[in-house]
Amino acid sequence: MGFHLPLYFLFLFLLCPILQAAEFQEPTCGKEVCGNITIPSPFGIHSRCYTQPSFSVTCNQTLNGDKPFINVNGIDLEVLGKAIFSNAILISYPVTYSTNCDRINKPSVRVNLSGTPFFFSSDMNYFGSVGCGNWATILRSEADSLGGCSQPRCDDGASESGCFTELTANLTSYTVKMRAMYPDSKGCASAFIFSKYSFRDAYPLPSGINKGTTHVPAVLNWNSSYCGEGGQSRAVISIAWLSFFFF
Ligand SMILES: *[C@@H]1O[C@H](CO)[C@@H](O)[C@H](O)[C@H]1NC(C)=O
Ligand SMILES: *[C@@H]1O[C@H](CO)[C@@H](O)[C@H](O)[C@H]1NC(C)=O
Ligand SMILES: *[C@@H]1O[C@H](CO)[C@@H](O)[C@H](O)[C@H]1NC(C)=O
Ligand SMILES: *[C@@H]1O[C@H](CO)[C@@H](O)[C@H](O)[C@H]1NC(C)=O
Ligand SMILES: *[C@@H]1O[C@H](CO)[C@@H](O)[C@H](O)[C@H]1NC(C)=O
Repeated sequence: MGFHLPLYFLFLFLLCPILQAAEFQEPTCGKEVCGNITIPSPFGIHSRCYTQPSFSVTCNQTLNGDKPFINVNGIDLEVLGKAIFSNAILISYPVTYSTNCDRINKPSVRVNLSGTPFFFSSDMNYFGSVGCGNWATILRSEADSLGGCSQPRCDDGASESGCFTELTANLTSYTVKMRAMYPDSKGCASAFIFSKYSFRDAYPLPSGINKGTTHVPAVLNWNSSYCGEGGQSRAVISIAWLSFFFF
């Protein structure tokens, strides 16, 4: 053993600058940056930084600078950053339902995350709805309600009226229904899932959410059985193996 010891230090001495150079050129996994956002592990931009394609992030130029996106079942979702809990990320999620609104006008969209590791946790998200005088419901299937809330009866012109409520279960797919409760409930109505933790004031809607809102911050969760070790620990393990073989 004594014979090998100087060799060992020589090896480390040679290895260190190489490792430092590699680090300088390619940011550490879990610390990659796109625009102002640090991409949290197990997500990654470089292919060595994510363990499966669901966690692949694309950094794209937009009019507002570089922004990171993930693609979930064909939909590009902007990554807003790390969520405060494990196995969760904050994304910008489009409103699922909207009718008669200023900037957005599309029918109910069916959300389906099945076949991906992702779901929306009821612990971290609420269901919200913009509008006047409707009963808004989120459903897993035709007969399976996951929550609903009643918008106040108000003037059609009210831009920040609506309601929100808890979700009764974690969800991978859902649809939204809007039912007018009064003859004059005809104005803009939209519905969405949103992060419990991204807003301070929240009556009757979180401040900043209104008729013109197209995207809302939401917490996307994933099943922990999907992600193995991050790229960083793989590198450490391979160095450990190297030393094992050399000495
Ligand atoms: C990112 O840019 C690529 C190449 O221009 C484009 O194909 C892709 O749709 C863009 N993705 C997003 C989310 O903007
Ligand atoms: C980054 O943050 C600065 C300061 O908050 C802001 O001016 C800039 O537009 C942001 N860039 C991107 C790409 O979001
Ligand atoms: C979601 O997609 C899966 C597979 O594509 C399908 O089997 C399932 O019925 C869909 N669920 C809903 C509620 O549409
Ligand atoms: C929902 O997901 C959370 C993780 O965010 C988990 O702790 C909780 O047990 C799940 N709830 C149900 C009803 O499966
Ligand atoms: C996580 O995924 C595994 C395997 O796909 C499954 O058996 C398990 O029930 C899932 N757990 C949750 C909380 O969804």
